[in-house]
Amino acid sequence: MGDLAKTLDQLKSVVSSSSSGQDSAVIMGQKIVSKVTTPLINQTKKNESRQDVNPKPASIPLQTTTSSSRTRVRAMEDKLERPPLYWAILSYVSYIFLVVTGYLRELIWGIGPINTPFGREFNRDGYAPLYSSFEGFYTRNIFRRYKPVVGQPIVSVPGSRVMINNRASDDYYWTSRLLPDSRTECINLGSYNYLGYAENAGPCTDEAIESVHRSGLSSCSSRQELGSMQIHQELERTVAEFVGAEAALTCGMGFATNTLNIPRLVSKGCLVLSDELNHASLILGMRLSGATVMVFKHCNVEHLEKLLRSAIIRGHPRTRRPWKKIIIVVEGVYSMEGTITRLPEIVALKKKYGAYIYLDEAHSVGAMGPNGRGVVDYYGLNPADIDILMGTFTKSFGSAGGYIAGSNKLIQHLRMHSQASCYAVSVSPPVAMQVGDKH
Ligand SMILES: Cc1ncc(COP(=O)(O)O)c(C=O)c1O
Repeated sequence: MGDLAKTLDQLKSVVSSSSSGQDSAVIMGQKIVSKVTTPLINQTKKNESRQDVNPKPASIPLQTTTSSSRTRVRAMEDKLERPPLYWAILSYVSYIFLVVTGYLRELIWGIGPINTPFGREFNRDGYAPLYSSFEGFYTRNIFRRYKPVVGQPIVSVPGSRVMINNRASDDYYWTSRLLPDSRTECINLGSYNYLGYAENAGPCTDEAIESVHRSGLSSCSSRQELGSMQIHQELERTVAEFVGAEAALTCGMGFATNTLNIPRLVSKGCLVLSDELNHASLILGMRLSGATVMVFKHCNVEHLEKLLRSAIIRGHPRTRRPWKKIIIVVEGVYSMEGTITRLPEIVALKKKYGAYIYLDEAHSVGAMGPNGRGVVDYYGLNPADIDILMGTFTKSFGSAGGYIAGSNKLIQHLRMHSQASCYAVSVSPPVAMQVGDKH
């Protein structure tokens, strides 16, 4: 506990030293590195006083850059990434204990009088179970036990601190009720809003409200039909300019940006080389595409090259024909691990072997690099070397939705063929305004 308190104190001091005000201080367990940079998109008046604490453009990997705050952040990341062995062992032992006692309890319930309705399906005779039995088991025996401290309803903006509405239970958290007017303020270690833009007051909020008066809350149509508004075109121009691409398209949801656009870029006969820790949205997109997926070890460029070489030499495993297209899919920053992709080496491989790169900058855009333009900026690379630049607006921009940026031809192709453009509603006007309005 002492260690944890010390680490939290250190986190607080780094965040307060790298942020200019209360509303911009965001403490996040996931990825502390992102709190020390300055965004360019949506650089509102309230942020004018912010200083860029990053060193000059880094064209070399992180280890060789110098900045006291970055070094401190890295040191803390390392500390957070490596819990003491006894923590790990105790966590596993507790988990196993809960599972074993859960099975014993279920065994007794199965033959005894107690029958709980939670996580069980009743009156379903003749039907196959709708959900997996382990989900119910988990909810009844494990989730319920730590429910008092998780899933608390948040009743404030997701800033550096959040207010939670307290709950009470009379039946050991099988059920719970909200206590009116009983709130607790907590340090926010969980949500995104890396740069503190998701506020309920200030210029960003005012402009978003203004856009509701002008354009309403929703276009109620897809981009390909009647959902293309001036605000979307302005947002896409801003995004393209910000990331240094020829063009960009936006989608109403970051997850769907990956899931619905990847299948329009690769298909059967194509090969995707995917980092083993890629996000679920990328994985789902790859599966939907029907392409062959090979997974390389996390941030391991040597393993990636090995797979790439052998894929080119051997071709498709069944037909031995050459792959129609090979695409390397990586993230800029891996939020759960805090690792940064080895982009310069991946770009070198792409050029050597004639592959494409799909880079998901969800956690790095707005947060990494001397200009806050993501890992491409962080490494001082040419954005044109990345074929598909993807990112989301939920993290640094405190909004919602996602984008894909790249060449005019690529964006035109996706506009015409992606389900996200054809069938999903376009970004809501106030949400677009929250991201794209520059001062
Ligand atoms: C790497 C990555 N890509 C895509 C997404 C999906 O973004 P959104 O939450 O905006 O839907 C996430 C979400 O956390 C992510 O981590």
